[in-house]
Amino acid sequence: MEKNYKRTLITTALPYANGPVHIGHLAGVYVPADIYARYLRANGKEVLLVGGSDEHGVPITIKARKEGVTPQDIVDRYHTIIKNSMEELGISFDVYSRTTSAIHSDTASEFFSRLYANGKFIEKTSMQPYDEQAGEFLADRYVVGTCPHCGSDRAYGDQCEACGTSLNATDLINPHSALTSAPVTLRQTSHWYLPLNDYQDALSKWILEGHKEWKTNVYGQCKSWLDMGLQPRAVSRDLNWGVPVPVEGAEGKVLYVWFDAPIGYISNTKEILPDTWEQWWKSSESRIINFIGKDNIVFHCIVFPAMLMAYGDGYQLPDNVPANEFLNLEGDKISTSRNWAVWLHEYLVDFPGKQDVLRYVLTANAPETKDNDFTWSDFQARNNNELVAILGNFVNRAMVLTHKYFQGTVPAPGTLEPIDEALFAEILDIKQRVSEKLDTFHFRDALKDAMDM
Ligand code: 2FM
Ligand code: ZN
Repeated sequence: MEKNYKRTLITTALPYANGPVHIGHLAGVYVPADIYARYLRANGKEVLLVGGSDEHGVPITIKARKEGVTPQDIVDRYHTIIKNSMEELGISFDVYSRTTSAIHSDTASEFFSRLYANGKFIEKTSMQPYDEQAGEFLADRYVVGTCPHCGSDRAYGDQCEACGTSLNATDLINPHSALTSAPVTLRQTSHWYLPLNDYQDALSKWILEGHKEWKTNVYGQCKSWLDMGLQPRAVSRDLNWGVPVPVEGAEGKVLYVWFDAPIGYISNTKEILPDTWEQWWKSSESRIINFIGKDNIVFHCIVFPAMLMAYGDGYQLPDNVPANEFLNLEGDKISTSRNWAVWLHEYLVDFPGKQDVLRYVLTANAPETKDNDFTWSDFQARNNNELVAILGNFVNRAMVLTHKYFQGTVPAPGTLEPIDEALFAEILDIKQRVSEKLDTFHFRDALKDAMDM
């Protein structure tokens, strides 16, 4: 039976502050999370909607190098743009913070220290990509090459954006440095690893047996990771931007961005609720829902839960991780680096006052079960045919008739005729169907039912 929770903590994937947010981010994460938060609040539930910018990692340092400015300049610029534009769109965050905050740095550092002190890591020396010309280790996206899975020649050392596969730099064909284009060499370095294999059984039980209700794409990806067998995963990097590894002798090493970023959900909750944040994270009366894009599934369903298990101390695991697929733009993949996107801050300038149109179109066409395409002709058609013609006319007629027959005031209800009863029953039935769809994260279908009303 469905448990009746006292409160729901809704987290939204923290966007990298290396660029503004675009419609892909909105359709995948922020609009559905906001719908869910508003839906629960409208039903009198206690809700916290948590967001923030992901300000560490190679995506930030690469952008800074390209522009010849500091990483701090980059994150300051884009955090402000992202925060303001999300607010203007009406994403009802209770907190939107950033991973360069002091509270985050302290929280992430303490998290690592506790795992370290409790012997939860293994320290390993290995050969890692190195750029001889630049004299630097090449973490993650500093290595580019050809994806061994789909053949894309724009794959990064941590992930291929074309097919979404998670990679190691050494998997790439023809790996070269994003700094100097020099071919990558290997050099010895040592790092801390979280042995995910130690959590294999617990994670399998938790997900494969305990969460069969998760979306098929999420459950399927988890199953395939678990079937492959989990391996230890490095949680530190040789980089000069990030939360320093809090271990003596670890100078020049920082926490891997995917170690510190999800802890951002905790630090952001702490920031807004310094005295009561634990109620949201450590009480069985609360539940946690992580809204993410499909490329983040492994980190939220496998890596972060393993970190929380390793930490212990009553931390709850997420109750659901509704991940969406990708939204394309006019038939082509959205790309920050190729500037192929509809940027939210630009939309807000070009279409003043039209926030709801964008929210509507992104929900009606949400990539909930498969990748979808955003086109301007569809945007225009949905605006004209659905919002203006159907919804607009309905509201307009209701207003006109109220003025014509009731002097512009909604009259007190009289005795219900059978025809009214039947209408009410139909409305309640639709409301019930809409609620069921919202409860199971099918926002697109819920909207369709509501519009068919
Ligand atoms: O994929 C991304 O854009 C990451 N910045 C998401 C991080 S989600 C969370 F863990 F913070
Ligand atoms: Zn690929």
